[in-house]
Amino acid sequence: MEDLLTNNLPGTRDLLPDEIARWQMIEHHARRLFFQYGFLEIRTPIIESTDLFARGIGSDTDIVGKEMYTFIDQSNRSVTLRPEATASVVRAFIQNTMYRGGGATKLYYIGPMFRHEKKQKGRWRQFYQIGAETLGSDHPAIDAEMIEMALRLIESLGIKARLLINSVGCKNCRPQYVDLLRSELQNYVPNLCEDCRRRSGSNSLRVLDCKVESCQPFIAQLPVITDHLCAECSGHFGRVKSFLEDAAIPYEILPRLVRGLDYYVRTAFEIVSGDLGAQNALAGGGRYDGLSEILGGPPAPAIGFALGLDRLVMVLPEDSISRWEWRPELLIAYMGEPAFRRALTIARELRTEGRSCYIDFSGGSLKSQFRLANKLKAEHVLIIGEEELASDRYSIKKMADGRQWEITRAELGSYLKTLKES
Ligand code: HAM
Repeated sequence: MEDLLTNNLPGTRDLLPDEIARWQMIEHHARRLFFQYGFLEIRTPIIESTDLFARGIGSDTDIVGKEMYTFIDQSNRSVTLRPEATASVVRAFIQNTMYRGGGATKLYYIGPMFRHEKKQKGRWRQFYQIGAETLGSDHPAIDAEMIEMALRLIESLGIKARLLINSVGCKNCRPQYVDLLRSELQNYVPNLCEDCRRRSGSNSLRVLDCKVESCQPFIAQLPVITDHLCAECSGHFGRVKSFLEDAAIPYEILPRLVRGLDYYVRTAFEIVSGDLGAQNALAGGGRYDGLSEILGGPPAPAIGFALGLDRLVMVLPEDSISRWEWRPELLIAYMGEPAFRRALTIARELRTEGRSCYIDFSGGSLKSQFRLANKLKAEHVLIIGEEELASDRYSIKKMADGRQWEITRAELGSYLKTLKES
């Protein structure tokens, strides 16, 4: 048995310093972009009442039925580690009366989610999402703007992706379509996989989402929802598409795109990558106009999406991260105790000026300090020996080209500053 004192739980992992630049870069891009579109950050608790997710996401979904981390706490309350954040955001929107004052409320979040799923490439039990939600408007231009924002983030990272969209109808037109689907499915039940057989009665829409190869020829023959939308839903979908076209955003309509959460109405979309294998969705989202009412709030039509941060990191091109890797601007190498003390003083002063400095505390040779500079990819090494102590003139070496010259303490600060500003 693996030793859980020295191993993390399956499906979880440590994000180590040498890969963290990727995460920070994506988060930074997201914050900057969301700000441009008028979104402000919200941080909701990671733990919520189990009912919130059961009601919000739907008790027939895989997430609620088999993937939640649920337990009874010391107050005898059933609580769950959030499997997604939309339900929590809507709960916070209602609880904090954020709907007061009218207009749309635009919120974003970045953080860990928890689903006890089967392990697979690109699938984790603790994974991270960057999500955005607009509450308080059913305007189809908002749908297009949300999609544009998700795509812009992905493209700004140098990642290539495709947009798949659909309309999943509303409470007026979907039930009739689901009835039709259920009766059609009866013709194929013996040929379907076990999951589909189970779903064909109670949760027929989910059959459309099945990935099992042998089910595909039968699924292809089922009626599609886009042929059964009511006039309002079909008008809304038409307008979403035309706003996407105005923004020159290419899309593919996938009439079988149904999402794994029950709250969706009308617009549903996914952004997929060709570089990910079976778990190819980089982002998923859609409209959830009735969710606020389901949770006891006022009517608040809304749309949102979440990007899988773990998956973005996986497909991030190498060349887009080098600027983000931490590397000291200066490693201060020293020989002897008085030089060490001068190194500490210079490092302290430079850090106050906003520079990043590194000192090797192990007291090793000059050679070993240079070895460390190479390992850390330090941009420069400043050398302090006895002579330098007395004269306050130091040798500085630029590691990229090996050039070495003398510099005073006063010159050093302005040299490093101009380098960063150029
Ligand atoms: P979702 O499709 O369940 O939607 O998840 C969104 C994204 O999170 C997926 O496209 C994927 O990139 C990532 N993701 C999901 N599960 C995992 C996993 N086990 N491991 C790694 N990445 C994963 C939602 O969560 C909705 N709340 C999105 C939304 C927001 N809809 C409206 N507003």
